Amino acid sequence: MEPSTSPDNIDFTQVMDEQRENAAVGNSGTHLSDIISGSDQAIETVDLAADSSVEFRRMLEKSGSRYKILKLIAEGGFGRIFLAQDLILGRKVVIKSLKEKHLARPESVRKFIAEAKLNAQLDHPAIVPLYSLDTDSADGLHLAMQLVNGITLKEYLKRCRERQREEPPRNRRYERSLQVRLESFLRVCDAIEYCHSRGIIHCDLKPENIMLGRHGEVYVMDWGIACPEGTDRKGHLDGTPSYIAPETFRDGAATQQTDVFALGMILNEIVTLRDPVTGADFKEVITRVCAGEFEPSTPLNPRIHSLQHAKQTTSAFANGSKTFYRV
Ligand SMILES: Nc1ncnc2c1ncn2[C@@H]1O[C@H](COP(=O)(O)OP(=O)(O)O)[C@@H](O)[C@H]1O
Ligand SMILES: [Mg+2]
Repeated sequence: MEPSTSPDNIDFTQVMDEQRENAAVGNSGTHLSDIISGSDQAIETVDLAADSSVEFRRMLEKSGSRYKILKLIAEGGFGRIFLAQDLILGRKVVIKSLKEKHLARPESVRKFIAEAKLNAQLDHPAIVPLYSLDTDSADGLHLAMQLVNGITLKEYLKRCRERQREEPPRNRRYERSLQVRLESFLRVCDAIEYCHSRGIIHCDLKPENIMLGRHGEVYVMDWGIACPEGTDRKGHLDGTPSYIAPETFRDGAATQQTDVFALGMILNEIVTLRDPVTGADFKEVITRVCAGEFEPSTPLNPRIHSLQHAKQTTSAFANGSKTFYRV
């Protein structure tokens, strides 16, 4: 498939470039970080050295008596996510536990502890706070974190698609729904700008790893493969192929552009409500990403029928965030 050039398709590079130009001329919103002088210098680098020794693990608290598991929320390759009750403070929390089979693998244990330390040191309104890293009588490893009462962006986009198929889009409701998605996107950009400023690359940005709370909260989740900028990930290319930047397949290094590429793909999906790349399997998707063969950016909703419309709507919200241009 040839990359699409039809005028009805949205060229996101152009949309973002234009926003960057707007930001450069005029558009001089004052931001707190401009006012809090020296804030950049105050940012500490993240200490990621993961100690997986027996002594370190002995220092961890046994959390079994504190948290009562209520139900399994999700299960991935490495871990399980549970909803639990904190019996001391009376709140609901989320527990992420390393699977038993991985407890005997030093590399898995090291990665789990590194994820905990990295997440705990990222302090931002769009990053879920960790409460603790605990153990149990069977030497298990469990992360306790804030429960996000909401759904993933992936689920939200699915619902938006279904709704648009079911009922003809009415102007106001449609505009509002796109605005909510764009606002959420900019909050994700803010979180990523923050983690980049701490020298960390997320490496696994995708709608599944973004959660939207009931009260408008937006969270970037899952720091399982995040790493310091410049880390060589050759041979360890975890992630979801549609969101992996093509150059990562060639030189393997994690850079800010790794996350920027994924953000671009997410923005595409948010506006068009379509999958940015399709393929029968992992290999085909990778081949298409590397060849720049993306799906035409024709929005599912005919109301976004032109590049102009997408630009206007994106601008209205992008103008509110300086980070949109920086990442
Ligand atoms: N703090 C949380 N609050 C609510 N749901 C969560 C929380 N953390 C994870 N989840 C749910 O669990 C899923 C998997 O979590 P994630 O951290 O992405 O783990 P994995 O490494 O298995 O992908 C998320 O997509 C989300 O649905
Ligand atoms: Mg995940």
